[in-house]
Amino acid sequence: MKIELRNIHKFFGPVHANNNITLSIPSGSIQGLLGENGAGKSTLMKILSGYLRPDRGEILLDGKPLVLNSPADAIRAGIGMLHQDPLDFPPMKVLDNFMMGYPRGLGLPKREAREALLSLAEQFGFSLDPDAYVDTLTIGERQQLEILRLLWLGAKILIFDEPTTGISAQQKEKLFAALRRLASEGKTIIFVTHKLEEVEVLCDRVAVLRAGKLVGEAYPPYNLDDLVRMMFGKVISKGKRIEIPLGKPVLQVKDLAVEDYRLRIEGVNLEVREGEVIGLAGMEGSGQRHLLRACAGLIRPVGGEIWVDGENMTGKTYHSFLRKGVAYLPADRMKEGLVPGLTLSEHFALAQEQTGFVIDRAAVLKRTEEHIKRFNIRGRPDSTVESLSGGNQQRALLALLRPNLRLILMEHPTRGLDMESAIWVWNTLKERCRQRTAIFFMSSDLEEILHYSDRILVFFGGRVSEPLDARTTTVEQLGQLIGGRGFESQPEAAREVAK
Ligand SMILES: Nc1ncnc2c1ncn2[C@@H]1O[C@H](COP(=O)(O)OP(=O)(O)OP(=O)(O)O)[C@@H](O)[C@H]1O
Ligand SMILES: [Mg+2]
Repeated sequence: MKIELRNIHKFFGPVHANNNITLSIPSGSIQGLLGENGAGKSTLMKILSGYLRPDRGEILLDGKPLVLNSPADAIRAGIGMLHQDPLDFPPMKVLDNFMMGYPRGLGLPKREAREALLSLAEQFGFSLDPDAYVDTLTIGERQQLEILRLLWLGAKILIFDEPTTGISAQQKEKLFAALRRLASEGKTIIFVTHKLEEVEVLCDRVAVLRAGKLVGEAYPPYNLDDLVRMMFGKVISKGKRIEIPLGKPVLQVKDLAVEDYRLRIEGVNLEVREGEVIGLAGMEGSGQRHLLRACAGLIRPVGGEIWVDGENMTGKTYHSFLRKGVAYLPADRMKEGLVPGLTLSEHFALAQEQTGFVIDRAAVLKRTEEHIKRFNIRGRPDSTVESLSGGNQQRALLALLRPNLRLILMEHPTRGLDMESAIWVWNTLKERCRQRTAIFFMSSDLEEILHYSDRILVFFGGRVSEPLDARTTTVEQLGQLIGGRGFESQPEAAREVAK
């Protein structure tokens, strides 16, 4: 089905999120939609999938005007969308979730649905257990389920809003294979991203948005420099490695063991010094998170010790770690970092250390405004955090971190961020390192790990490598270790002689 968007406008208060966008997308193609954080990509896709009404403009499907009042309308017209922030899943089984949205009254037997689910899954090489509970699935598997559900509902146009954030490299390969296959069957795929490599390997064409406007379109072979220039209106580069002299030890991990019902990591020894950045690499779920959470006091080690600034913190509470200057930034911003429903200034009021019973509103407002300016957050003090684009939520989280921290622990500090925001985030973090904060972070972006870490630990199925020097490690070496190759030559766990 051919899609035409004509002169689409959308305002959120004073924000002109979509400004006169006209775009046509032929059927059977994979259309990329590229743009910086807050460019208006999700807004445009929500309009096309019936979640939002445009203020002006029209949508044509195979030349016929289409009015969408709800996502159900869109699905009836054959348009389905996978959202950027997956909606909350109730504790429901895979099969029941699959059947959601199927027109009622058709008296659909479960057996038929089960067969449809299994046969669709097989076609795409997805393995989904119809009787598993949805909340036990990985993000990648939930995505697979959602694709199959939309297909079964008859979607001919599938919209993917940044689908590769949070899934493993293998799942990404599977997803791309599925998308290529769908396109070859004549379906139209719209793929929203800010990652140029993904556009390059996947998309037949790409449209670029900047500040609400369509600024250009491009076709393969792509000139990546041109795409960057279109996205940001200027040339951007990561720049050289930033070297910061290291100070005294902040964190000492001694023969640490942490476990949960799935995984155990043990024998981790490490000393992290002021100003140092340690990157944790590995496939999602290989133990990186366990280590971070143990160092934040969120999970209790089952063996070994954790020392912060010369004090044995083993077994102490999260709040004791906080008081020691340890901060933790989780991956799921809206679940663990920010509070949906509260505004930016309410967040700043909460983050402030309590000195009395009364909140000084004027002071909080002033502080919020200062931070919005300094951290370049696109939003106002009274914006609720969920109305901010993904990149701006991340800026807000960083703005909320107290000054003079000793150790910052982070899961995916730049996940979902465009290049410019990611560079900005790291400049802010390195500034903290200059103020003698140590940083411990995990990421699935190998380039990020190599470029910003001093040393790297690789995790593989609960095993931890020796610390690697980031300056002398290559992407290939790191990739091999993450896949478990070369681990044999590594001792069982990292052992490091304190310097
Ligand atoms: N419900 C809303 N209320 C108020 N403002 C909104 C709302 N949704 C989006 N916006 C604003 O509209 C602009 C475009 O947001 P949108 O989410 O479309 O950006 P995006 O290109 O998807 O960015 P990202 O890459 O960060 O996901 C942003 O300035 C955002 O703050
Ligand atoms: Mg978005």
